[in-house]
Amino acid sequence: MSDRQRTFVMVKPDGVRRGLIGEVVRRMEQKGLSIQEMKLFTIDRDLAERHYGEHRDKPFFGELVAFITSGPVVAMVVEGPSAVAAARQIMGATNPLDAAPGSLRGDLATAITENIVHGSDSPESADREVGLFFG
Ligand code: RTP
Ligand code: MG
Repeated sequence: MSDRQRTFVMVKPDGVRRGLIGEVVRRMEQKGLSIQEMKLFTIDRDLAERHYGEHRDKPFFGELVAFITSGPVVAMVVEGPSAVAAARQIMGATNPLDAAPGSLRGDLATAITENIVHGSDSPESADREVGLFFG
């Protein structure tokens, strides 16, 4: 297929703490995406600040960095047809209270910071994030 893409997906510390690694992987695989790379580790402050560089000037930046470094994450390279959009659909809207039922955030979360999962927002972001985490 011509529209095969890769994207970067990460189970955030709340998802790992709550035992939702398998749930995230299951939904990605059921959609037709495949896991190319996967690792569990704790992000250090430097990587967190680079990953979330676009949010550096936002009021929630400090909280975001503190949260994402608060425990292990599972970082993945996910590949398949329209993988960027497909993964974002599975995740649901950023704020779990706006996320559709049936999405990970809609079904499983209530808080905007602790929203279980991250997915790249464009193919360019995917390349940057895969490089940061797996380069
Ligand atoms: P993500 O990057 O985690 O996949 O989420 P996203 O694209 O849907 O959202 P984005 O705008 O990139 O925001 C990144 C993460 O920052 C937290 N956030 N908190 N307090 C707030 O108003 C606020 N806004 C965003 C969320 O954890 C979001 O996933
Ligand atoms: Mg984002």
